[in-house]
Amino acid sequence: MTISEITRNQMRELAARYPKSRSALLPMLHLVQSVEDEVTTDGINACAEVLGITSAEVTAVASFYTMYKRKPVGKHHIGVCTNTLCGLLGGDAVFSALSERLGAKNNESSADGEFWLERIECQAACTHAPVMTVDWEFMDDVTPAGAVEVVDRLARGERVQSTRGPVIRDFRATEHTLAYPLDGLVNEGEAVDAKMLVGLRLAKERGMSAASVPAGEA
Ligand code: FES
Repeated sequence: MTISEITRNQMRELAARYPKSRSALLPMLHLVQSVEDEVTTDGINACAEVLGITSAEVTAVASFYTMYKRKPVGKHHIGVCTNTLCGLLGGDAVFSALSERLGAKNNESSADGEFWLERIECQAACTHAPVMTVDWEFMDDVTPAGAVEVVDRLARGERVQSTRGPVIRDFRATEHTLAYPLDGLVNEGEAVDAKMLVGLRLAKERGMSAASVPAGEA
């Protein structure tokens, strides 16, 4: 699909926010995904044109970061963390159950094109391992059956809430938020809960503190 003039204007607006316009490339690529479902060749060319760099330079960035896709993601992106802690606590079983439900392997979409399944790296959410993400919203302490139920509910068009509060929208909406974080949703849901603070509480109770960093090494 051709990138519309509206999207090009939004790209120009993003580029104008930075002292060096090429710093806007990452949000611009999210913007492309918010309208195209993937980073298309037209999207790459539009970014290059707006920033005055080559399409090869844009492609180098888009192909380096795994959040940028060169195939259509579909309505929902499903990520399953299978790094060490999540993997040990059931992440691989969660991935297998979802793979069977969706008929998709890693980095593939379901037959109907509605869901994209992906093994993802540590989300810095190990406290709630195993963790699954839906359009990058957290589903904490997930089980294989619970993960499949989330997908079933989304497939039926039901309202699904992340375990941290926000209601799941869709991949395109999330990508738009990643391009324009000032969307008023910053305080949606809980950023931190008691389980995440156990280590801090214990450290305080025991009078522990981090070692100081020698001057000049911070
Ligand atoms: S290992 Fe899965 S969130 Fe850290």
